[in-house]
Amino acid sequence: NQVLVLNGPNLNLLGKREPEHYGAQTLSQIMAGLEAQAATLGLSLEHFQSNSEASLIDKVHQAMETVDFIIINPAALTHTSVALRDALLGVDIPFIEVHLSNVYARESFRHHSYFSDKAVGVLSGFGADGYEFALTAAARHLAFAAE
Ligand code: DQA
Repeated sequence: NQVLVLNGPNLNLLGKREPEHYGAQTLSQIMAGLEAQAATLGLSLEHFQSNSEASLIDKVHQAMETVDFIIINPAALTHTSVALRDALLGVDIPFIEVHLSNVYARESFRHHSYFSDKAVGVLSGFGADGYEFALTAAARHLAFAAE
C-alpha cells in the first residue's frame, strides 16, 4: 500500500521554529524515522512539504490514482483552507490529521479545523510521535479495509 505524508506551510522550519510548541527534531529527521517505520510495516511512503496551498492541492489531485492513505499536517491551512479540504474530499482518499502541538491548548483560532470532521482520526499534542502513531493507525486501517 502507498501512503502519502503531506506537511503544510512553515513545517520546513521544524527544529528551529518555536521548539516549545513543535520540538527539536527537523522535518527530515521525523520523515527518516517514518520511512524506517513504513518499511517494517510493508508500506511504501512518499513525503511532500510545501508552503504553497496550490502545490499541496495539486499533490492531492496527483495522489488520486496511486495513493491509498494520506497523513496530513495542514499546519496553518488547518484553520483556513476550504480548498485543501475540498481537494481531499474530491479524491476520496482516507486521511489522518496530525498536529505536533495540542491545538486545543493554544489560541482559540486554532480550535477550528476544516479537516477534522472528515478525517479518519486526529492526533494533536504528541509532538513528532503523532506521525508515528498516525502511520500505525493507517496500517491498521488499510489492513482492515483489505479484509
Ligand atoms: C500545527 C498547528 C497549527 O495551528 C499551526 O498553524 C502549525 C502547526 C501543529 O503541527 O501543531 O503550523 O499544525
